[in-house]
Amino acid sequence: MFDLAPDALAARLLAWYDAGHRDLPWRPAPGALGDPYRVWLSEVMLQQTTVAAVIPYYRAFLDRWPTVEALAAADDAEVMAAWAGLGYYSRARNLLACARAAAAAGGFPPTAAALAKLPGLGPYTAAAVAAIAFGEAAAAVDGNVERVLARLTDDATPLPAFKARARALAQALVPAARPGDFVQASIDLGATVCRPRNPDCLLCPWRDACRARTAGTVEARPVRPPKAARPHRLGTVYWVWSERGVWLVRRPEKGLLGGMLGLPTGEWRVGETRPRLAGAWAGTTLNRGVGHVFTHFSLDLAVVRVHIPHGTPEAEVAAAFGEGFWGTAADLDGLPTVMQKARKLAEETR
Ligand code: ADE
Repeated sequence: MFDLAPDALAARLLAWYDAGHRDLPWRPAPGALGDPYRVWLSEVMLQQTTVAAVIPYYRAFLDRWPTVEALAAADDAEVMAAWAGLGYYSRARNLLACARAAAAAGGFPPTAAALAKLPGLGPYTAAAVAAIAFGEAAAAVDGNVERVLARLTDDATPLPAFKARARALAQALVPAARPGDFVQASIDLGATVCRPRNPDCLLCPWRDACRARTAGTVEARPVRPPKAARPHRLGTVYWVWSERGVWLVRRPEKGLLGGMLGLPTGEWRVGETRPRLAGAWAGTTLNRGVGHVFTHFSLDLAVVRVHIPHGTPEAEVAAAFGEGFWGTAADLDGLPTVMQKARKLAEETR
C-alpha cells in the first residue's frame, strides 16, 4: 500500500507539522485537544472556503456566540446575516440545525460515529471533530488529503470513486497518538506543499515515499472525471424602492439562497430572458446587469428599478413582488453577495 510503514509516514508528517505548522485561531497547541464547538465551527466554515476568508468570520461568530448553547439560541436571521459572504447558505442552515441538536443533547458527542448522526454533519467533519477535539483515531479526508494520498500511492482511480480508497488509506495512516494533529497536518500538507499545481515536492516530508513523484505523475493525480459544462441562466432582480426603504423578501427555505433575505427576483430558470414587471408601476431596466457564478450554474441578471409612489399600501407591493417589508441600509448589508452586486448597481445609477 505504501513505500514506508504507516507509523514512519505518520511520524514524519507530525515532525514536519511541529517544525512549522500554520498558526490558525482554531488550532489547539500541538499535542493538545481542541474545544469541540470551536473545532466544529471552523471545520464547517472551512468547507469550500479559504482559510483567509474564514478567519474574520470565525472570530466574529465566536465573539457573538461563544458556545454551542449560545449559537443554538440565536435568531435564525441574525446567523444568516452573519454568514453572508461565506457562501453556500445551506451550510448556515445546517450549522444552526446541528448546533441546536448538539445543545439539546448536552454537547457534542465524542466519537465520529455519533457526531455523524447530527444533522448536516458529514463524514469529513465528524472525523475531523472526533480527531481534533476528542483524540479519536478517525480519518478525516477532504479534497486536500485526497490529493496527497492519490499522489503518495500513485493511484489512478478517478474521483469520486477514489474517495472510498482515500478514506481507507487515511485510516491506515492515522496514528493512535495525536490523531488531531495528524488530520491538521495532512490538510496543511495538501494546502501548502502538495498543491494542485506546482507542488513543492522538495519540502515534502513524504517525498522519498511518494510513488507519483517517482513515476512523474504528480500533477496528473488525483484523476478527475471530465467536467460537466456549467449551464448559463438569465434572470431578473428587482430594486423596488420608496421613501420607506427597499422592498425585501424572505426566500423560500428550499432552493438557491434558501431562507435568506433578498431582493425580489424572477425564478432564474433556464430560458428566462426578459424582465417580468409585476404591478402597475413603471420600471426601468438598468443598462448594465449583474453576473454571478454559482456552483451549478452561472447567471446574468437584469436589474429593474421600480419606484413605488408615496402612500401605496404595502399589500399592493406584496401582491406584486412577494410578502416582504421595507428594508433599511442595515438590512441590505446582510444580503447575499449576488444581491449586493445588484444593490451596488442600483445605488450607483440612482
Ligand atoms: N481546512 C479544513 N479544515 C482545516 C483546518 N483544520 N485547518 C486548516 N484548513 C482546513
